[in-house]
Amino acid sequence: MDNYISISKRYLMKMFGEITFDLFVLPSGRKQLKEPVLLVRRNTMLTNLKETVAASGFENFYIKKSDLQNLYHHIENCIGMVIDDPLIPLREKSQIIYSCAANVMKEVFADPRSGESLSRVQKVTRNIIRFALADRSTIPSLLQLSSHDYYTFTHCLNVAVFSIGLWNTINPTDKPETLQDFALGCILHDIGKSRIDDAILNKPGRLTAEEFATIKKHPIFGYELMADSVSETTLDIILHHHEKHDGKGYPEGLRGDRISDTAKIATIADVYDALTTNRSYAEARAPFNAFLTMKEEMVGHFEQEKFISFIQLLGGKRG
Ligand SMILES: [Fe+2]
Ligand SMILES: [Fe+2]
Repeated sequence: MDNYISISKRYLMKMFGEITFDLFVLPSGRKQLKEPVLLVRRNTMLTNLKETVAASGFENFYIKKSDLQNLYHHIENCIGMVIDDPLIPLREKSQIIYSCAANVMKEVFADPRSGESLSRVQKVTRNIIRFALADRSTIPSLLQLSSHDYYTFTHCLNVAVFSIGLWNTINPTDKPETLQDFALGCILHDIGKSRIDDAILNKPGRLTAEEFATIKKHPIFGYELMADSVSETTLDIILHHHEKHDGKGYPEGLRGDRISDTAKIATIADVYDALTTNRSYAEARAPFNAFLTMKEEMVGHFEQEKFISFIQLLGGKRG
């Protein structure tokens, strides 16, 4: 069974189009064999798949792990329907949306300049916003899933979820559409790291001055990568998410009101997520310890009012 992952019947019945993976079941008499048997072959039309699934009498279905990418692509296409389905439990929805979005981000980091990548990120961002703002329980549910191990692509996704939550705490009456450019900036904020060697990004222990200077170029690299493709609001977050309220940030050393409200929100979410996930040079901090570090060791980094709103938003719900 190690080579398979389970997939729910409810989800299968929501799909549309042609399936691009083989679908298996585990007949009860075969459990001792521990090997699922093929029920529907890939490239079957969905109407046939749904009829076969419904008539099979099975509740649990499996696909091969080697088909996971194909499944993610399929989910991307019908994610709106997953969000709108009142019968899918919140936790299951969050898992589908988080894993689908994480997969999009992973592929975007591999090929950030492709127009197809960008339109996929835009679509997934729209859906995250719609889901996150649907009711008060969705953001905590998404945050609980966020990976405790640090990968740049899941970090970017986490920062977007935290940022949407903080924006919504500060501007509760804003419509989801007004958040799109902002959330896109958050989800792409570290896209410039795709131009930096993994050996530097994941180096355990201290960076040399030269390596640190390279890492500090990622906001400018990100700006350059995206300059022709996204709005000013989105670019501003990519370029300015390491600016600090006291003017001691980079790349421009902007101070206070010279930094946009949107970049300030992304900055808080960015630092918090970095502190609460395992890094090559430091273990994850518990939420309360992360707040303490931000309050006491990062004096002047954040706008106080927004930092307090962020503490209220999380209220120790993560971890
Ligand atoms: Fe960054
Ligand atoms: Fe970041």
